[in-house]
Amino acid sequence: MTKINYVKIFDTTLRDGEQSPGATMTSAEKLEVAHNLARLGVDIIEAGFPAASPDDLEAVRRIALEVGNPASLENEAKVPVIAGLARANKSDIDKAWEAVQGAKKPRIHTFLATSPIHMKHKLKMDPEEVIQCVSEMVAYAKTLCNDVEFSPEDAGRSEPEFLYVVLGEAIKSGATTLNIPDTVGYTTPDEFYALIKGIIEKTPGMHAGITVSVHCHDDLGMATANTLAGIRAGARQAEVTINGIGERAGNTSLEEVVMALKTRHPVFGLDTGIETQQLSRLSKLVSNYTGIVVQPNKAIVGSNAFAHEAGIHQDGMLKHQTTYEIMRPEDVGVNQTNLVLGKHSGRHALRNRLAEMGHSLDDVELDKAFARFKELADRKKVITDLDLEAVIADEFYKPRDVYLLNGLQVSCGTMGMPTATVRLRGPDGVVHTQASIGTGPVDATYKAINAIVSIPCTLLEFNIHAITEGIDALGEVTVRIQGTNGHTTMDAQSEVEYARVYGGHGADTDIIVASAKAYINALNKLIIAQTEGTEKVPNDFGVMLG
Ligand code: KIV
Ligand code: ZN
Repeated sequence: MTKINYVKIFDTTLRDGEQSPGATMTSAEKLEVAHNLARLGVDIIEAGFPAASPDDLEAVRRIALEVGNPASLENEAKVPVIAGLARANKSDIDKAWEAVQGAKKPRIHTFLATSPIHMKHKLKMDPEEVIQCVSEMVAYAKTLCNDVEFSPEDAGRSEPEFLYVVLGEAIKSGATTLNIPDTVGYTTPDEFYALIKGIIEKTPGMHAGITVSVHCHDDLGMATANTLAGIRAGARQAEVTINGIGERAGNTSLEEVVMALKTRHPVFGLDTGIETQQLSRLSKLVSNYTGIVVQPNKAIVGSNAFAHEAGIHQDGMLKHQTTYEIMRPEDVGVNQTNLVLGKHSGRHALRNRLAEMGHSLDDVELDKAFARFKELADRKKVITDLDLEAVIADEFYKPRDVYLLNGLQVSCGTMGMPTATVRLRGPDGVVHTQASIGTGPVDATYKAINAIVSIPCTLLEFNIHAITEGIDALGEVTVRIQGTNGHTTMDAQSEVEYARVYGGHGADTDIIVASAKAYINALNKLIIAQTEGTEKVPNDFGVMLG
């Protein structure tokens, strides 16, 4: 087994993260996240579960081709492995291979449950059948791809002795990474440490070429602690997601593990390849795309993570930063030199700044970005990196415009009924206008939009915040909507698409405009999924997969 002082970061934001309810991303968004994960320096990107639907397969294939190839990165050593998940059957494994084979470094990640509960109730297989299946399917995957990872699902509740046997078979059949998932977030750090140590010491055939990996869920709030315990026991790959998004309470969050290893380096003595200054930016990107807001007190990337409110803390901070700060905000990309551009900055300056921030735009995109920038600079004196990020997210990382905001006028206040008149350009190119009253300006706006778009849905969440300080700040709105079945006849597939949760994001100095954009953005995703369909296979993982 690999015993080096380097921990590989395996990011599964696009698979385990995206699979969680409400985290749906479009293919373009997934591709953008993947590009950014590569820039962040992750070692492995689990790009998706290709057997889930033709769309998922295609998204993984594009990521493999565009992100997983040296041409897209200067340093070949930094090209990430692109992994695709597959259940332990030939059809899934074939699809995973079809999706990842275009990458310079492809990986097939296959899994089968090993806990008594899963084997009995979900798989309806006895332990011998499970061993046989693992041995055959890992061997099959190995005939296609040299890099095969195997996970015994629900390892946290599996019998260690049985795990040693299954993992030994996986090694014999050619797996080179053994990932140990605490699928239901059940174990404690001490237990997980012992489990990993036992696996390393007692699995037959364990050798230096095998990487032991950890994959924890956060049901009891112990995912990061368990991951670090597993690493202390000798695991050298951590499976994580940005912002800790994932099934139920989520997965271990990338930023927590990486910053714990960095900040407490003397304790762990281990390094990762992550460029930590990009963490804050990527956290925002994923939050914008998924519509899943990061709680303000979230470690590392929450908006309060570096805020010092209590007087005694502020006093200490003024005397010396280290009194209350164990990490520097700039180490994770917060409060970096922010003052970037102003009204008189030109295209060239904008292009350079965006490139420094990791966005390389072609000429047409730059024209669009420049127009938005000028428009913003008319209303706001100083444009910061955060403003630029919001504009870029708003302009480029949105779904195709089925409906596009073409005009909005709102009257509100204490003197009358809040009324909104909305103009949208529809898919047929026709401009529709509608006026509505509501309990407030946002309500009125959303009602007018609903009257035009006419897609039954429920607004689950609405969040608004100012991107920077100051009265002229850009307002950023994130919404999450869920389609509701307003139709009497609907096939099962359409029911699935309607029930999914879609996030939307909008930014503008006018918060009602930002609100309208966010809502239209989410509606466009719902409409695209509904009309073009994603043909997801039903979730026959069983309820336990995370
Ligand atoms: O949590 C889990 O068990 C998983 C496996 C598929 C690795 O996500
Ligand atoms: Zn999982």
